[in-house]
Amino acid sequence: MSNFKTLKKYHAYLLPFLHFFLIAVTFDVIITLLGLTNPMLTRVLFDYAYQYKNLTLLNVTIIAIVVTYFLYFFLNIVSDYLQIYIGQEANATLTSDVFYAIQCLPLRFHQEKSAGDLLIRITDNVGSTIGMVMGILPTLIIQGGKFVIILLIAFHMNPMLTFLALLSIPLYILETKFYASRLQDVEQESIDTDSKIFSRMQERLAGIKLIKAFGQERAETLSFGNLIRRRYRIHVKGKVLDVLRTFTNSITLQMWSVFLTWYLGYHVVQGNLTIGEIVALMLYLDQMGEPIGAFAGLATSWKTSLVSMNRLNEVLDYPSEAALEAGGKELSLAEGSVKTEHLTFAYGPDNEILHDIDVKFPPHFLTAIVGASGSGKTTLANLLLRFFDATKGVILIDEQNISEVRIGSLRNRVGMIAQEYALFDGTILENILYGNPDKTFEDAVEASKLAAAYDFIMKSPEKFDAQVGTAGSFLSGGQRQRIAIARTLLKNPEIIVFDEVTAALDPESEFHIQEVVNKLKMTKTIVIIAHRLSTIKTADKIMVLESGRFVEEGKFEDLLEKKGAFYRYYWKQFGGLAIFRQQLALEMERAARYQSHFCISVCKYLPYETIAKKEGLEAADDFMVELDYAIKKAMRLGDNSSVLESDTILILLPEITEDQMHLFFKRLIGVLTTQPVNKRSIAENDIILIGTRISKKPFRTPEELVNALIKRLTKLKQETAVFDEETLL
Ligand SMILES: Nc1ncnc2c1ncn2[C@@H]1O[C@H](COP(=O)(O)OP(=O)(O)OP(=O)(O)O)[C@@H](O)[C@H]1O
Ligand SMILES: [Mg+2]
Repeated sequence: MSNFKTLKKYHAYLLPFLHFFLIAVTFDVIITLLGLTNPMLTRVLFDYAYQYKNLTLLNVTIIAIVVTYFLYFFLNIVSDYLQIYIGQEANATLTSDVFYAIQCLPLRFHQEKSAGDLLIRITDNVGSTIGMVMGILPTLIIQGGKFVIILLIAFHMNPMLTFLALLSIPLYILETKFYASRLQDVEQESIDTDSKIFSRMQERLAGIKLIKAFGQERAETLSFGNLIRRRYRIHVKGKVLDVLRTFTNSITLQMWSVFLTWYLGYHVVQGNLTIGEIVALMLYLDQMGEPIGAFAGLATSWKTSLVSMNRLNEVLDYPSEAALEAGGKELSLAEGSVKTEHLTFAYGPDNEILHDIDVKFPPHFLTAIVGASGSGKTTLANLLLRFFDATKGVILIDEQNISEVRIGSLRNRVGMIAQEYALFDGTILENILYGNPDKTFEDAVEASKLAAAYDFIMKSPEKFDAQVGTAGSFLSGGQRQRIAIARTLLKNPEIIVFDEVTAALDPESEFHIQEVVNKLKMTKTIVIIAHRLSTIKTADKIMVLESGRFVEEGKFEDLLEKKGAFYRYYWKQFGGLAIFRQQLALEMERAARYQSHFCISVCKYLPYETIAKKEGLEAADDFMVELDYAIKKAMRLGDNSSVLESDTILILLPEITEDQMHLFFKRLIGVLTTQPVNKRSIAENDIILIGTRISKKPFRTPEELVNALIKRLTKLKQETAVFDEETLL
């Protein structure tokens, strides 16, 4: 954008106040004219009142001087007030515009720029831009007018002298050019450093816990101090340059003045001028220095504010999401089926994360996506909401290409519960209602119940009016997550993407949310990036993402059976025991809630020690994993088992009777002894199996229960036993 266009663009912010602005400028013109009468009045005093001893003229002139003085002050006050008012109004409007534009910038932009950089744009850059546009016109009009008037008068009085005075101008231009470009560089450097300082402060204060945990207070202060000193050096450099510029200008002015004084004196000596003429001329020529100085100043600050203006241009002219939306089609949802065709995505060159993905998320269906950390799960979710646009390929929702629909309408129908759920400072209610302004308190209560947040909200004294703290810091991770879920459920989108977080929920809430999800999937398209066993097991389909490619899909048991990517993932990445514990906790919760039972059994493999001694621990542990897998295969759908440690495997069973448990043990031993496991045959007395029915809730945590079982197991020599849970206590 050319400099002129830039100027015009920001001048538009003054247009709503044009009338006030013109009044202020007019007053400034009058103020300047009043200033110009002073030499005239002085000349009248010297040349007429004093010389002809005219008392009346003296009185009138003095009264004129006093009146001028008061008028000067009054107009000055009004004009200053108007300018402050216009400046603040224009500043507020431009600040809002820039803030809006920044929010509409695509995520990509936000990731490239630091928070500090953007903050400086909203504050300092807006300030200096408005300062510039406010100053430029009055300076041009007033100082320009002043210059012309003085020039005319002076020219009328003494053309030669005036011409000589004007000869100083090229010098000013040279000086200004020299300093302005250097000051512009300093300004850029100063803004860069300020951005870094702001970013650093913002990031470090937000991460204060980390600093404290690692005892980095002093180290942080030291490196922050270096930044601050760098800023101070830049500011000093700027100040020095500015002082030098003023000093050089002033020297030029003084030298020229000395020369002109000599020239005038020469004419007095020659008898060509009166004393009054000389005094007036001197005063005018002196005043001529002011507009010239002002122009030089204006040119310099124009150069430096241009840095700010260009930074604002960068934000305001960036093709923002808001601009992209305009003219886009509305997303019309029939059933909410989502599919991708050859979807490829890269965050940057040579950084392709998703490769040619063809995937379908059917409606009324729960699809779970699993995959190692960094495989691209969140990235795929981000693409569904168009936080980023696909590099190649398309995403279709009910056959509509989402890159052709209005972003607003897309995000209205597709909800996301993100991995890092943001809450804003305010009450719980405000956070749940965020983005749902037409929903009522009752709706919020309903949503909080759905999201299993109601109980903990009602426990706090202020209930829904409880403050959540900055970024929700007064709440626990699980509570924050449930508020975020409530917020999304309140919006009631047809397609919901959950980016689940591990371990943020207690078993009771997890159980509750699992039920919510199961209910939601009757009517909605649900995609869950799943970390919990409860989700994975109940999913209609599990899809395994490996390094940006879907490598396997199917139901839980089928995938385990296949012993492919999911199996590997399940054991190596997840850790079977952690999942087992999750499921055990869930079963305990269910038993307590519905006063039902479940059964748990412990299997000990006696030759473990011998194998470990002969073939090493790793071989022994590998065998246990295989044994556990063989047990899994022998069990029904939904039952689970896990190696607890070394020679012990835990088995979780549904509610069965003692007799059924005996039968299960018999069958299991039958299966294990007929086929070799990992090329190793198992004898009946290699295995101890014990089990019990857990009825009420004698154990508070899975750990307590497991420890009691292990204790019981150590008492056994060799036995397959079912015993009463009372004996565990
Ligand atoms: N904004 C970004 N810019 C550049 N690379 C990114 C960006 N976000 C993610 N990545 C990279 O993309 C890859 C996939 O990241 P993604 O967040 O999708 O992983 P994920 O599967 O969700 O992992 P997790 O289970 O840990 O959440 C990672 O290698 C990551 O480094
Ligand atoms: Mg992720």
